[in-house]
Amino acid sequence: MSRKDRSYVCQTCGAAARQWAGRCGSCGAWNSLVEEAAAPAAAGRAGRKLDLVALDAAPPPVERRATGIAEFDRVLGGGLVPGSCVLIGGDPGIGKSTLLLQAAAKLAARGHDCLYVTGEEAVSQIAMRARRLGMADAPVALAAATAAGDIAATLSERGEVAVVDSIQTVHLDGLDSAAGSVAQVRASAQALIEVARRRNAALLLVGHVTKDGAIAGPRVLEHMVDTVLYFEGERGHHFRILRAVKNRYGATDEIGVFEMTDRGLGEVANPSALFLGDRQDGAALAGTAVFAGVEGARPLLVEIQALVGPPAAGSPRRAVVGWDAGRLAMVLAVLETRAGIALGGRDIYLNVAGGLRISEPAADLAVAAALVSSLEGAAAPAGSVWFGEIGLTGEVRPVAHGDTRLREAQKLGFETAIVPSARQPAGSGGLRIETVGHVAEVAARLGAGARSERRARA
Ligand code: TYD
Ligand code: MG
Repeated sequence: MSRKDRSYVCQTCGAAARQWAGRCGSCGAWNSLVEEAAAPAAAGRAGRKLDLVALDAAPPPVERRATGIAEFDRVLGGGLVPGSCVLIGGDPGIGKSTLLLQAAAKLAARGHDCLYVTGEEAVSQIAMRARRLGMADAPVALAAATAAGDIAATLSERGEVAVVDSIQTVHLDGLDSAAGSVAQVRASAQALIEVARRRNAALLLVGHVTKDGAIAGPRVLEHMVDTVLYFEGERGHHFRILRAVKNRYGATDEIGVFEMTDRGLGEVANPSALFLGDRQDGAALAGTAVFAGVEGARPLLVEIQALVGPPAAGSPRRAVVGWDAGRLAMVLAVLETRAGIALGGRDIYLNVAGGLRISEPAADLAVAAALVSSLEGAAAPAGSVWFGEIGLTGEVRPVAHGDTRLREAQKLGFETAIVPSARQPAGSGGLRIETVGHVAEVAARLGAGARSERRARA
């Protein structure tokens, strides 16, 4: 290879450099540059004029193929689009192979030609899993392969839906780099996507998430595929969430909720019931508050739990599970500065029950309620839900999807909703609405107001 053909590609961010360096000049990762042969330049060939098509004369979109797994179809935007490529990322062991085998089996049972190519397991292992899932007689065509050329050759002959598990195990002959490297992943995916698109087959690629949470090391594949889904969940818990982060054929804020059982992934049509399942009927304990959340377009009620310890001798401990630690620090600072509720010197533990991870600022109010409730030893009103964002000035601000949150709370039998006062949401039905305009009012809503006032006077 002549010097000119060589380049060094960062395995973390995909940036190319002329010279090797210990540290990537683009993303700052250490020891991430790997030598790769430059792609052959397509120079020299004279271009051909494009065949242009009028927008209104363009061929109609092809019909989607619903997998029959409603939670999966919902995230896809209604089903698999022929000729499209879907990347499914997630931690090892989260259930990607299980989900795709179930989807392939369902599609095959409906008469679609489905291929399942594995580079990670033996064909017998897949067959064993299918037996466990009760889908052993589904006519899915299996193969164990890692050569992109072989897979592409097969795909160019048959298959309406093809699963490749995983893209990191696939390699393209003639490319110097190792399987799983940026160049291999990119080139292999490109080869497979090309055939699938040409044949109007739907391609499903599994991508492992690396330590840093990116698919295939860098996010090199995300721009090449039509849809990127992440499959997530906590190890100790059985529920799983499928989230669309990119979708050329559907909404990106959609989620699907599944439950891992001993017979594969089950669909969870009513996630709130799952997440509140372990909660004692209607019982409100000090240190808990139910947050009326919205994930994607779906309402999701979860319990926020807080434990506030006595004033700590040294530096206080903070542990947060399922929420952002920075956000917690902000809520604590606002409670202290704007409402005189001193939590700063105490150990604080915050947990989102059920192992769900929430990122909505709308949870601020429920978090504040759980914290104050634990501190005061005063339970939130039985059957109450909370939502609202807390600003740095201490005001409780309205959030989006208020009506969706209230409807869900009502559907699940909650009696009271404690919400921001700036906007009185409509459609509350039988639900009693109480409003909070400022964090200082949180204690009063917990029925602890009298006690704190007494203490303040003493
Ligand atoms: P898998 O689909 O192999 O995960 P991935 O492909 O994302 O690495 O799922 C592996 C886990 O799921 C494994 O720990 C066992 C569990 N599992 C069940 O609990 N029930 C089942 O029916 C199946 C097939 C797997
Ligand atoms: Mg797998």
